Amino acid sequence: MKMNIIRISEMKDFVGEEVTIKGWLYNKRSSGKIKFLIIRDGSGFVQGVVVKNEVAEDVFELCDKLTQESSITVTGVVRKDDRSPYGYELTISNIKLIQMAFNDYPISLKEHGVDFLLDNRHLWIRTPKQHAILSIRHEVIKAIQEFLNNNGFVRIDSPIITPSTCEGTSDLFQIDYFGENAYLSQTGQLYQEAAAMALGKVYSFGPTFRAEKSKTRRHLNEFWMVEPEMSFVDHYENMEIQEKLVEYIVQSVLENRSKELKELGRDLSKLEKIKTPFPRLTYDEAIEMLKKNGYEIEWGNDLGSPDETFLSNQFDKPVFITEYPAKCKAFYMQPKEDRHEVVMCADLLAPEGYGEIIGGSQRIHDYDLLIKRLKEENLPLEMYDWYIDLRKYGSVPHSGFGLGIERTVAWITNTEHVRECIPFPRTLSRIRP
Ligand code: 4AD
Ligand code: MG
Repeated sequence: MKMNIIRISEMKDFVGEEVTIKGWLYNKRSSGKIKFLIIRDGSGFVQGVVVKNEVAEDVFELCDKLTQESSITVTGVVRKDDRSPYGYELTISNIKLIQMAFNDYPISLKEHGVDFLLDNRHLWIRTPKQHAILSIRHEVIKAIQEFLNNNGFVRIDSPIITPSTCEGTSDLFQIDYFGENAYLSQTGQLYQEAAAMALGKVYSFGPTFRAEKSKTRRHLNEFWMVEPEMSFVDHYENMEIQEKLVEYIVQSVLENRSKELKELGRDLSKLEKIKTPFPRLTYDEAIEMLKKNGYEIEWGNDLGSPDETFLSNQFDKPVFITEYPAKCKAFYMQPKEDRHEVVMCADLLAPEGYGEIIGGSQRIHDYDLLIKRLKEENLPLEMYDWYIDLRKYGSVPHSGFGLGIERTVAWITNTEHVRECIPFPRTLSRIRP
């Protein structure tokens, strides 16, 4: 007889058939002659039912002995069960033990404090909520790559070890590079600009390092960013591409991961509203709005987290805040033609108070202007020689942006803190496990 070895996610295709699942015991309970085992296999969770008189004696006895997280192979018949939170149930006929887990598994099914859970992140990721968040993270990344690949972008990986800075000098992780100073990448942007002049539309996707001593729920010291960069694209077209990408991400998660979203208790109607076009608000208008509502902020100040939270709560879609004062932003942004004190940039703030998920801008393409801006920011010209070259040889208007994966996942999954949206978070107080 052929044996169907399947994953829990495939159970819907095997109703009424006998299957074998390889996984771990997540939980169990007993009711006299019936044992209920919750089994997980990485693709999902399912309840297995073991009835005393229907299995061999040693199988029934094994159920009593099995400890939480023991690895097992279970065989049984798949039943559809609409009352079960998993949708299906397994009527177990046989269980094989792979390893009996030590009986001191630290994460019990009761509530634990978040610090304890973070100390045990390597085990915490086995639990249903973390499983759902990490599955959605995967879907977000997949959707981004699909969107960009389907729209003619070429993936270009930026280096991680870099000799110069891009987003300011204060938050760099310095390393020793054979006796020379080098830094972990804060952004791949400058390299993407070079690549955009070679391949037209490009993107990088990689880890990003910021030595910020921030303890907010939005900050990690290592996070993942996707950075598209496009030749012959201006500030306005840049925003249109961003909103299409964000719509595509959210709609893909709704389509492919609604089960996980429901497990997290996510209000799907809020996500269903994420359709283009997104509202746009100039920085000037944002400042007005903040002042009117009692926020103490002056023109020229960068927006802080509470300001972003307030602004993003005013809309049920992500909102672009455009044309910030040049002095709040990095050296490479293109000034507005008729108003040089502001730059052609936009931050995209996610709704429900999640704050900035994208930062983007049109880049300076004029040689003289770039030199002027580098000097104003006291950046050493010799470190940017190759970047300046891009303005010497066939310079064109171009734009790009960076989307933070963890902040996007936090918003979509309605997770309070970004640290749960990356497998192994690096924060001010944590580099382990
Ligand atoms: O706004 P940022 O700093 O933009 C750049 O680095 C540009 N060079 C990108 C570009 O135009 N190619 O960062 C972009 C995004 C933010 O909007 C946010 O989503 C995320 O990266 N981000 C962080 N996420 C988690 N922790 C942090 N400390 C983050 N800093 C930025
Ligand atoms: Mg930013």
